[in-house]
Amino acid sequence: MDQESLKQAILQLKKEKNAVILGHYYQRDEIQDMSDYIGDSLALAQEAQRSKADIIVFCGVHFMAETAKILNPDTKVLLPDVTADCSLAISCPGEAFKKFKEEHPDHLVISYINCSAEIKALSDLICTSGNAEKLVRSLPEEQKIIFAPDKNLGGYINKVTGRNMLLWDGVCTVHDALKAETVTGLKKQYPEAKVIAHPECNKELLAEADFIGSTKAMLNYIKSEGRKQYIVATETGILYEMKKNNPGVEFIVVPSGNGCGCADCGYMKQNTLEKLYDCLKNETPEITLPSQLMEDARRPIVKMLEMSRRLGIIK
Ligand code: 13P
Ligand code: SF4
Repeated sequence: MDQESLKQAILQLKKEKNAVILGHYYQRDEIQDMSDYIGDSLALAQEAQRSKADIIVFCGVHFMAETAKILNPDTKVLLPDVTADCSLAISCPGEAFKKFKEEHPDHLVISYINCSAEIKALSDLICTSGNAEKLVRSLPEEQKIIFAPDKNLGGYINKVTGRNMLLWDGVCTVHDALKAETVTGLKKQYPEAKVIAHPECNKELLAEADFIGSTKAMLNYIKSEGRKQYIVATETGILYEMKKNNPGVEFIVVPSGNGCGCADCGYMKQNTLEKLYDCLKNETPEITLPSQLMEDARRPIVKMLEMSRRLGIIK
C-alpha cells in the first residue's frame, strides 16, 4: 500500500474500532499527522487517563504505552512496535533499584516517568520533565529524596531547587550525547539565536542554555519569545511541531556526538505507518501487565496527576 492509502486505511480502522491514537512529539512526522493527540509525556499520561476509547494505540515508546495501560487497565493498549524501548528505562533494572532503595529506607522515591512499571511500583511519586521541578519544590525541605533514573534531570532539579536528592546513575543516551562545545560553536555562528534545551541533556550543555524545559515547555517558550532563530538541544522529532507552529522561524539542531550525528531517538522512530496499520488491524502487539503490578505502579502516577492539578501545572 502507498502512504496515502495506508493513512486512509488507518483512519477507517480507527473509526470502526473506536480507537484513539496518542503520539509523542518525537514520533516520525507522518505518525504525528495520524495522532488524535500529540503531546509531551505529561499531557499524554493525562489523555490516557481520561480516554473513553475502546483501544488506545500509543505511538511512543514502551514505558509510555505501559503508563497508558496502568491508567486505563480495562482498555486495550497497543504499541505499534513493542520493542521500542528507552535508554533511561533500560538504565534502571528492578532488582538493582530495589536494593538501592533498601539501602536508603528514610528516602522518598521519586521516579521520572521514563522507567519500567516495576520501577514505578517501587516509587512514591512519578514525575515528568514538565512537572518535576514544581513537584519537588512542593515537598518539605527536610524530606530526603531518591531521584531515578535520570541523573541529568535530577541534577538539574537539585541545582534549581537547592536540594540534594540522591541520584540514580542513568541517562538518556540521545540527550546525553549532545555536547556543550557544539552549542558554544553554534552560538558564535548564530549570535541572535536563543538556546533551548531538554533537561535530559548533560549539565555542561544545560549551562549554555537560555531556556530549559520539557518538549511542551519549549514550544510554549518559542511562542512567548517570538524570535527568528533558536538553537535546539533535544530529539529532532520536535522540529515538526516547532516548524508547523512558527513559520519563518529558523531552528538550528544541535547535532549529536554519536553515530549518524543526528539527534534522533532510534526507539521513537521504530514506529512506522505500516506498523501502525498492522497493529490496528490485528490488535497486536498489546501491552499486558500483572494486575498487582499495575495497581502498585498506578498509585504514584495518580499521585503525580493529582499533585499536578493541585499545583496548577495541568487542568
Ligand atoms: P517529555 O515528553 O516529558 O518532554 O520527555 C521527553 C522524552 O524523552 C520522552 O521520552
Ligand atoms: Fe528514552 Fe531518550 Fe528516547 Fe526519550 S529520547 S525515549 S528518554 S532514549
